[in-house]
Amino acid sequence: MPAPTADLFPDDALQQPAGREQIGDESHVLRGYALPWIERLLPSLRQVLAQSPFRQMVTPGGFTMSAALSSCGELGWTTDAHGYRYSPLDPRSQRPWPAMPDVLRQLAVQAAADAGFIGFAPDACLINRYVPGAKMSLHQDKNERRYDAPVVSVSLGLPAIFLFGGHARSDRAQKVSLFHGDVVVWGGIDRLRFHGVMPIQEGLHPVMGPQRINLTFRTAG
Ligand code: SIN
Ligand code: FE2
Repeated sequence: MPAPTADLFPDDALQQPAGREQIGDESHVLRGYALPWIERLLPSLRQVLAQSPFRQMVTPGGFTMSAALSSCGELGWTTDAHGYRYSPLDPRSQRPWPAMPDVLRQLAVQAAADAGFIGFAPDACLINRYVPGAKMSLHQDKNERRYDAPVVSVSLGLPAIFLFGGHARSDRAQKVSLFHGDVVVWGGIDRLRFHGVMPIQEGLHPVMGPQRINLTFRTAG
């Protein structure tokens, strides 16, 4: 007689922890992973943004990015006419970026470990703010000094369609819907895959309002 649970637990459900979706050999979406952290995370995020507010940055090619940016941690990602780079100083204030709050670091380290990357030590957290219509073109994260650490990406607020491509810009990209509290982790052989975000649709998120905020943690230095 078959085990009574056979129909309830198909093979793939037994192999994958609940809410963990594999999107690449070493890439996962951890559904709702950040939800239990949000109440502690938001006040810290607000403090960071009071010190280093969102601002619109310009690409080396002269285009204003539609997402507004800020950072916390030892290094912050910036772009201007001279190029893309990490800097220890907020170019707006010429002072160090706000420290990475413990709650943010712990969330990123635990999510990385649950996606198979033990010992993640992020020194940079880029904060992207998307209002409806804002997007992020396909790109690789490659301004970091080394690529052995993963990228950990936390989505807050309005939903997004995340594009997860291959190693060439022209490779067909998977479309992955991301919701408030979802965390994406990609690393190892997937670390340099192209990715981006389709234009955010109009909406009003009950907690975050009319915006999406994304936090991406990296080891940059
Ligand atoms: C990024 O690639 O820096 C941001 C990705 C996202 O907003 O989901
Ligand atoms: Fe990126």
